Amino acid sequence: MNRVKEDKNIIIDVHLDGQEPNDLHAELRTALTSTPRSLPTKYLYDDRGSELFEQICELPEYYQTRTESKLLSACADQLVSMSGAEELVELGSGAATKTRLLLDAMARAQQLRFYVPFDVSEGIVRRVAQELAKEYDDLQIHGVVGDFLAHLEHIPEGGRRLVIFLGGTIGNLGQEAARSFLSSIQKEMASGDFFLLGVQLETDIHRLERAYNDAQGVTGQFNKNILHVMQKLVGATMNPDAFQHIALYNQAKHRIEMWLRSVKEQKIDVPGINLSFTLKKGEYILTEISTKYDRPRAETLLEQSGFQLVEWFTDPEQLMGLALARKP
Ligand code: AVJ
Repeated sequence: MNRVKEDKNIIIDVHLDGQEPNDLHAELRTALTSTPRSLPTKYLYDDRGSELFEQICELPEYYQTRTESKLLSACADQLVSMSGAEELVELGSGAATKTRLLLDAMARAQQLRFYVPFDVSEGIVRRVAQELAKEYDDLQIHGVVGDFLAHLEHIPEGGRRLVIFLGGTIGNLGQEAARSFLSSIQKEMASGDFFLLGVQLETDIHRLERAYNDAQGVTGQFNKNILHVMQKLVGATMNPDAFQHIALYNQAKHRIEMWLRSVKEQKIDVPGINLSFTLKKGEYILTEISTKYDRPRAETLLEQSGFQLVEWFTDPEQLMGLALARKP
């Protein structure tokens, strides 16, 4: 780990000990040779992919981000007073746009001491730390670059903590993976600390599918960007024009599934992992799942991970849910 004290109020820890190349290669090989074939979702989010995702958040069809922001501003004061938190820890903090709503509420309650942005992107953690240090006097910022599972334990205690994980990103994980992920977070927290989980709620199927099939085709570009990432990473020869973006709602599994459909029979070479295979015409590769919840399913997930649901917030149309939970 490499620690940098950027100025009097900022510390940044960079954990570079991510996954080993061998593990990454094995994971990719398993994904590409499974039935159906898939690609690890994390490869959607390189710099270009993260930029495209920020564009998605502005699309008229993609209601999730703006709905969650509105909901958060409506309940921020209540969240702050219920949790009594003086330290805000944000998993996958990104540009920290929604964060300010909570930081403002903490400042109003005179409870704001510590902010811990956690993200895989070093650039964004540094930028956010600098910006927030200017905006909030006396706020101590302890940024962490790395994997939140591995490194939560290294964060110094700054009083009562509120750990937040927003946007419905938990939906990228299958049931088992979501439970084990939340359990690991729970284990790193102290008894009495709070956890705020943002989930996307199940709603009208057409509305859901439209959110992932926008008229401008930005989501399609985002999906196909994973092919460029594969090219850079392991030299895969996958021409984006030979694939079609598909996003469909799977009602039985309560999730949007995003696929790349091969428009022709094609041979794929992946020299970096020493793999070649033939895609049939019409064959699908799964790139992302986005699970939708309802209150009972969110509550069950939290309870199975060792949390207690304290309060449930939703918008008038019940599109997004915010579950405030506590570690007993
Ligand atoms: C970042 C995982 C919350 O699932 O809605 C948006 C990603 N993919 N459009 C989502 C996404 C395509 C997004 N999450």
